[in-house]
Amino acid sequence: MTTPLVVGNWKMNMLASEACNLAQSLADLPVEGVDVVIAPPFTSLYAVSQIIKNTRLGLAGQNFHSELKGAYTGEVSLEMLKDVGCKYALIGHSERRQLFGESDAEVNKKVHLAIEMGFNAVICIGETQEQREAGETLKVIETQLCRGLAGLSGESIAHLAVAYEPVWAIGTGLNAAPEQAVEVHKFIRKILFETQGFSVKIGARILYGGSVTPDNCKELLSEEEIDGALVGGASLNFESFYAIIKSALEP
Ligand code: 13P
Repeated sequence: MTTPLVVGNWKMNMLASEACNLAQSLADLPVEGVDVVIAPPFTSLYAVSQIIKNTRLGLAGQNFHSELKGAYTGEVSLEMLKDVGCKYALIGHSERRQLFGESDAEVNKKVHLAIEMGFNAVICIGETQEQREAGETLKVIETQLCRGLAGLSGESIAHLAVAYEPVWAIGTGLNAAPEQAVEVHKFIRKILFETQGFSVKIGARILYGGSVTPDNCKELLSEEEIDGALVGGASLNFESFYAIIKSALEP
């Protein structure tokens, strides 16, 4: 059975002291049977890494530059993320795509780089409201997935997770219904294993993200097709994030 993966994406929230407090509460949890990863802002990564270093909690970068080093003012490299203890990296979050113009080609470059450098890459994909209403959801998913993963070897899948995050569900309080998520997750699995030819045996985890809360996590995470969650707002609070972690443990 796949171990569920629950990732808390703290986005541009929390000062270092707040991040450390929350990390400490999470570090004290007995989290056997579920992989829990947190993605604090860059400014808190090092401090948080010191708190969680002897625990099962994982650390993720929310983003990184696709070059390894150089004159890129304001950017952070993958090596820097590794240096502060990150083993996971989010790639192609819809906020990066929509607000910062990140293209599928750039996402693809980052996925290659992250996997080459031994990271677990979490590639984020998802359709907008307009695309869903136009009946284009699966087409959009296929395009983002195939372009984002182009050229990856079959074994790469062991280091990959795909997060399905419908853009209309992010931060809106309007989560996808379990059957909507399941339809897309099945399609992603089909693309990964049929079109892209990855091996079924090791399988990437497919996460759902978009307004996951303690109220809806159980029905989402009890679906066999949903291997975990990428959580934004509800991961900023210990009680709500812990409730989601627990529901991944006890589907
Ligand atoms: P919310 O859980 O706040 O909707 O955010 C989801 C998300 O974007 C996680 O990456």
